[in-house]
Amino acid sequence: MCGISGIVHSENIGRNLFNSIRNLEYRGYDSCGMAMLQQGELDLRKNVGGIDEVNAIEKLDQMQGSIGIAHTRWATHGGVTQENAHPHLSPDRKFVIVHNGIISNYQELRERLLSQGVVFESLTDTEVFVNLLEESYSKYNDLEKAFLAALGEIKGSFSIVMLSSHDPDHLYCVKKESPLLLGLGEGCNYVGSDLNAFLEYTRKAIVLDDGEYVVLGRNEYQIRKVENGELVEKKVLHIDWDVETSKKGGYSHYMLKEIFDEPQTVRQALKIPREQISGFAEMLTDATHAYLMGVGTTYYVANISQYFFSTLANQYYPALSSDEFSVVRIESGDMVLALSQSGETYDTKTSLEYAKTHGAKTAAVVNVMGSAISMMVDQVIMQGSGPEICVVSTKAALAQTFIMLRVALELGLMRKQITQKDYQTHQQDLESFPQMVEQILNEQSGFVRNIARATSHVEHWLFLGCGVYYPVAMESALKMKEITYQHAEGMPAGFLKHGTLSMVEPALHTLFFVPLPEQKVLHDRTLNAMEQVKTRGGTVIAIMFQGDERTLAVTNQAIQLPQMSSLCAPLAQMIMAQMFAYYAALDLGRNIDKPRNLAKSVTVG
Ligand code: F6R
Repeated sequence: MCGISGIVHSENIGRNLFNSIRNLEYRGYDSCGMAMLQQGELDLRKNVGGIDEVNAIEKLDQMQGSIGIAHTRWATHGGVTQENAHPHLSPDRKFVIVHNGIISNYQELRERLLSQGVVFESLTDTEVFVNLLEESYSKYNDLEKAFLAALGEIKGSFSIVMLSSHDPDHLYCVKKESPLLLGLGEGCNYVGSDLNAFLEYTRKAIVLDDGEYVVLGRNEYQIRKVENGELVEKKVLHIDWDVETSKKGGYSHYMLKEIFDEPQTVRQALKIPREQISGFAEMLTDATHAYLMGVGTTYYVANISQYFFSTLANQYYPALSSDEFSVVRIESGDMVLALSQSGETYDTKTSLEYAKTHGAKTAAVVNVMGSAISMMVDQVIMQGSGPEICVVSTKAALAQTFIMLRVALELGLMRKQITQKDYQTHQQDLESFPQMVEQILNEQSGFVRNIARATSHVEHWLFLGCGVYYPVAMESALKMKEITYQHAEGMPAGFLKHGTLSMVEPALHTLFFVPLPEQKVLHDRTLNAMEQVKTRGGTVIAIMFQGDERTLAVTNQAIQLPQMSSLCAPLAQMIMAQMFAYYAALDLGRNIDKPRNLAKSVTVG
């Protein structure tokens, strides 16, 4: 998704501004650019390609000036071309802007401007705004008034930052339904579409709300309502994310680093105060109907959670994909519990809005502080997993799953479906999990890598599991598809014989998520499906637990985890499958941290 950055300083900021868009790279983009004011003139450089490619041509990091804006673009309106890349400059070269979101009425504005003789350089919706700025400035001769007048003409969802040679000391910023934050430094200030734009320079941030605009100077800022110009007092947040955790820390990819962050991520999830966890459990208990919602990986986390609630609290809450949520008739008294790493996902956000409009209570587990979803729900749990830079979700998804396990346990106790004694035992299992994760990461990565290397050529996979291991299989298949570009289908193991079995032959590989033998019913069902594949000549690989001789006898290859509690077992398997996908993609030479066609946060519909 597109990324915005802006800096107002007293010193040359070319290098810092360049770094700031590098820190936004993980959002996914196809072009980038920067604009700076140098000796009263706007210098604009942009092109298509990755940051380093564009820098090699445009020398972005050598740009001069103490005020500037920058952008990483993920094409929506208009193809991937240099003209369509941001920033966009006005014809008189006095205004330059970066924009995220969509100006929904841009066609009619463009037609009006075209009829007035304006010549457009790009096919973007954004370029109309820079022309509106030029037009309204000629009318008002006042930059703030011109900015507001131009804003009055556009509809849609947007965050925009403008730099103009008419005011060399300020950036003009506005936020409407697309994230924008300020970073407050010493003698300098920042603006960004997410914290990573300025986290390297300051930890003090302000989250802008919809309908607010800012005149941002290096020592001061004024936040006002677009509607009536009223000044707004905002809370300054101290961001406790460690900058180092957002860097690769010696790993070859963010994905691997983030998998190895998982013990710490679970520790953080354990630190979430019990009141917050029981707050969610109470909301669920009070609801007439409750729904779990997410999309992509978070939908699978919702599916896994469905099993936790049913096993531990004897409650069935349907899990729905956010993009399909509108099939549900919501009424007052209902409740929706959403999961979102970024807190900005369009489908999840719109479905929460839909639920709220129909009177439902809302709650969410979110990773990014100040994100739209975290601000819009009635109750939020900040998962505290730290920045997840790799496009595919690993540590954040694991932490969400773990947090949902905590909520299900709390609900189970509340609803007297588990005893206090069982609760304590489960709690101890959860507390020992971070250490278990450390152990399996250290002990298993070599085995996983070997199997992944030996099978990386396989183009079709079935990932199979029973009970809670079924959504784990689906999530793992998604991971595999995302980063290897090979086909993997997640399916209930028992479903196989109802059709898909016809595909089985030696080239077809299956990855089974085998429960602990003590989970007898699930274990037997899984083993049964494994035998069906084996007897038809298919290749069977298992993620299983040590000491399970029956399973071992059926597999071609196996990743054997140490015995652990049945609560944590599916989570441990999820980690192994993340690692399996990682090493397969590594062997195939894929762009692991930024898989083709994907973006970290999908903020458009
Ligand atoms: C998969 C992945 C995506 C996201 C989905 C929701 O690895 O990362 O499927 O899970 O786009 O994103 P968030 O969690 O930011 O709402």
